[in-house]
Amino acid sequence: MKILVTGGAGFIASHIVDAYISGGHDVFIIDNFSTGRRENVNLKATLIEMDINDEKVDELFKKEKFDILNHHAAQMNVRFSVDNPCFDANTNILGSLNLYESAKNYAVKKIIFASSGGAIYGEQDCFPADEKHPTNPCSPYGIAKLAIEKYLFYYKEVYGIDHVAFRYANVYGPRQNPHGEAGVVAIFINKMLLGNQPVINGDGLNTRDYIFVSDVVKANLLALNDNVSGIYNVATGIEHDVNYIFKKLKELTKSDCNEIHAEPKAGEQRRSVCSYNKINKHHGWEPTVSLDDGLRDTVDYFKKNFK
Ligand SMILES: NC(=O)c1ccc[n+]([C@@H]2O[C@H](COP(=O)([O-])OP(=O)(O)OC[C@H]3O[C@@H](n4cnc5c(N)ncnc54)[C@H](O)[C@@H]3O)[C@@H](O)[C@H]2O)c1
Repeated sequence: MKILVTGGAGFIASHIVDAYISGGHDVFIIDNFSTGRRENVNLKATLIEMDINDEKVDELFKKEKFDILNHHAAQMNVRFSVDNPCFDANTNILGSLNLYESAKNYAVKKIIFASSGGAIYGEQDCFPADEKHPTNPCSPYGIAKLAIEKYLFYYKEVYGIDHVAFRYANVYGPRQNPHGEAGVVAIFINKMLLGNQPVINGDGLNTRDYIFVSDVVKANLLALNDNVSGIYNVATGIEHDVNYIFKKLKELTKSDCNEIHAEPKAGEQRRSVCSYNKINKHHGWEPTVSLDDGLRDTVDYFKKNFK
C-alpha cells in the first residue's frame, strides 16, 4: 500500500514508518522538523519536508494517490497549548483539516489518527477509562484532538473515508525527545545519564498509563486491515506514579541523584489510566511489553545514543 505518514521524523511515527517499510509498503513522510529529527527518518521512505498546513499538501496527494493517511504530526506539548491556543489550533485542527480535505479530494481509503486518551478524558470518573468515558478535555491540545476525532466521523459519514483514531496513553521508548516538557521517562533518563538532577513536580503521586512504543506500532499495523475502524484506546490499563518511574530509572541508570520534589505544576491531571478491552475484544491487540522491560530497553537506547 502507499502510505503517507505525517510526523514521520518524530518519536512515535518514525517507529511506525520503520514497521510499514518492513511490511513492504511504499511510505512517504511529511515533517517540518519542528521537533522531529533527521536521524529518525528511515532512508527507504520518501521524505517531504513540509508543514501540514502548506497548500502544496494538496498537490502531493494529487500526484501520489495515497491509499492511507497515517496522521501523527502535531504540536504535542499540552502546557504549550495552554499558553498558545491559537498556535495549537492552527497546527492541530487546521493542519489536520488541510490533510483531510486533500484525502477527500484524492480518494484516500482510510485515515489513521493519533489521538490522546489522557488529554481527551480529562480528570476521570472511573479507572481505567474506556472509550465511553465522558470526554472533558481541559487543555487546548485535548480539545483539538477531540475536534479532529469528530471531523473523522464527518468525513466518514459524508464522504465514506474510513478511519481509526487511537487514543494513546503515555507513550515512551527509544527516540522520545528528552528536551521537551512532556515525556517524563526520556527527560529523567537523559538527566540521570548526564549526571544532572531530575526534579519531580509535586509529590510524585500523579499516575499515568505508560505504554511502550512497540505496542503502539503494533496497533498501527493492525489499523491497515480493512476490518479495523473506529475509536480505540491503546493503553495498558495499569497506572504507575512518577515516584516509581524515578526509582526504577535511578536503578537502571545507576544514577546517584537524589529524589527532589518541586511545586506541582498547575493543571496537571492526578490520575490517568485507560482500558484496552475494546481493541482486545474486537481485534486481539494487547500490550506485550511490561513497564520494567520497556524502561530497561529505553535506558539502553539512551546509553548508546546520548552518551
Ligand atoms: N507521546 C505520547 O505520549 C503521545 C500520547 C498521545 C498522543 N500522542 C500523539 O502522537 C503523535 C506523535 O507524538 P510524538 O510523541 O511522537 O511527538 P513528536 O514531537 O516526536 O512527533 C511529532 C512530529 O510531528 C512533526 N510536526 C509537528 N508539527 C508539524 C507541522 N505543522 N507540519 C509537519 N510536521 C510537524 C514534528 O517535527 C515531529 O517530527 C502526536 O500527534 C501526539 O499528539 C502522543
